Amino acid sequence: MTDRPFAPQVSAFGSHHEQVVFCHDEDSGLKAIIAIYSTALGPALGGTRFYPYGSEQAALADVLDLSQGMAYKAALAGLDLGGGKAVIIGDPATLKSEALLRAYGRFVQSLGGRYYTACDVGTYSVDMDVIARECDFVTGRTVEHGGAGDSSVLTAFGVYQGMRASAQHVWGDTSLAGRTVGVAGVGKVGHHLVSRLVEEGATVIITDVNEAAVARVVEAHPQVRVVADADALVREPLDVYAPCALGHALTDEVVEVLSASIVCGAANNQLAHEGIEKRLAEREITYAPDYCVNSGGLIQVADERESDGFHFDRAKSRAAGIFDTTLDVLDRGKAEGVPPSIAADRQAEQRMRDVGRLRAMWLPS
Ligand SMILES: NC(=O)c1ccc[n+]([C@@H]2O[C@H](COP(=O)([O-])OP(=O)(O)OC[C@H]3O[C@@H](n4cnc5c(N)ncnc54)[C@H](O)[C@@H]3O)[C@@H](O)[C@H]2O)c1
Repeated sequence: MTDRPFAPQVSAFGSHHEQVVFCHDEDSGLKAIIAIYSTALGPALGGTRFYPYGSEQAALADVLDLSQGMAYKAALAGLDLGGGKAVIIGDPATLKSEALLRAYGRFVQSLGGRYYTACDVGTYSVDMDVIARECDFVTGRTVEHGGAGDSSVLTAFGVYQGMRASAQHVWGDTSLAGRTVGVAGVGKVGHHLVSRLVEEGATVIITDVNEAAVARVVEAHPQVRVVADADALVREPLDVYAPCALGHALTDEVVEVLSASIVCGAANNQLAHEGIEKRLAEREITYAPDYCVNSGGLIQVADERESDGFHFDRAKSRAAGIFDTTLDVLDRGKAEGVPPSIAADRQAEQRMRDVGRLRAMWLPS
């Protein structure tokens, strides 16, 4: 599951990244790339994706994209964190081992805290516990090991807040009761989101390529309707479309057929290419920027770095702030006459500049 369907020739030197590290341990089979986009606001934090990439180029392209996204996500969420991400190349089902994860942990440790890792596609809290045996810079560990555990709970909560803010912006009312919401992908985040929407009285239509994921939702909420695939879902009469599966869900074709007034979902990198945000705006579809609304999980794992350890209630109350951040981004976009994704980028870049600059003021240690 990559956020890029193809792998153009990319080079780390052609990007604005601070540091890109290739990590290799032949015996365990570890081939990893750690990318640090920015440490302007603090150490780079981002998950480790374990995925059978078709090529090193595809893995590099993904990690460069994802690490940049993390820097913008942390900046917009108001966190004192930079942005980074890592990928491990290979099939986690066959390649993942204690030795490989610990070798990876030693490479993360070697960066001395410039990069903190966390879970992502193909890695879980129990893996973070193993990595943490070699490394001090690990979040997303299990609750038994002092970690925040599964970050999808607050990611879904944050997406829900972003959706309520979008509803306020578009319809002048936060309520989603009576609205029809299409959720593509009901995995870790999507299924929590569906529960919140059903609870609020929304009509929910779902799709997922994994039958077990669909069955779990239908068992919990028999009133939810299922359609064959994402193609069918975007053609349904929807008020809100929530992409919660792969990246690049918003293609030219999807934007043309979509009837929804709002797009707000958990998936990273939803815009298939530059310029799609303009087409969405032309069609009067309000797009709540992905990294603005899906920062709840980052807020959750970032809380592990607090001096008194992780507190769920504190993290949840910070994640509730995604409502205000989303509303602000949508309102600014409207006021400045630009699509919301541009307004979000501007705000994140400004914070990286304005607050990052303060480090230049010398303080005695
Ligand atoms: N988990 C988090 O805390 C978090 C945080 C921020 C962003 N995200 C992003 O949100 C998305 C979902 O994350 P998750 O943790 O729920 O992952 P997940 O793997 O648990 O769920 C994704 C679901 O999408 C389904 N899927 C894959 N391809 C599909 C397709 N073509 N059509 C329909 N369904 C499809 C999968 O079967 C799976 O059930 C990802 O893009 C992830 O990068 C997750």
